[in-house]
Amino acid sequence: MSHPIFTRFWLWMSPKQDQRGMADHRRALLAGLKGRVLEVGARNGLNFAHYPPGVTSVLAVEPEAGLRQVASENAARVPIPTEVVAGVADRLPVEDAPRHQ
Ligand SMILES: C[S@@+](CC[C@H](N)C(=O)[O-])C[C@H]1O[C@@H](n2cnc3c(N)ncnc32)[C@H](O)[C@@H]1O
Repeated sequence: MSHPIFTRFWLWMSPKQDQRGMADHRRALLAGLKGRVLEVGARNGLNFAHYPPGVTSVLAVEPEAGLRQVASENAARVPIPTEVVAGVADRLPVEDAPRHQ
């Protein structure tokens, strides 16, 4: 999937949104998370810096190549092991968890 105009727009807009308070929403949204996290639709990875210390790893799925590239750069900047992969919500690159009887 490649939408260069979509990518350029979000790479320009999202840092501005974060400066105007979106970063606070991210922190509040992610507070209390722990263990392994699967983020579906990670865009440019602006959540990565806000995952709380209880999170042990993040697998971030993003189908848009240009956004995925920037998300990978942001993943390299955070202390929590964060991997960015290509994928879509209806074909996630993870095993199904066994159903609890
Ligand atoms: C609203 S944005 C997510 C924003 C991001 N989680 C954040 O907090 O900044 C939605 C993202 O989902 C991605 N996306 C679109 N269709 C998708 C699909 N079928 N499966 C997974 N991600 C998809 C888009 O490329 C976009 O980056």
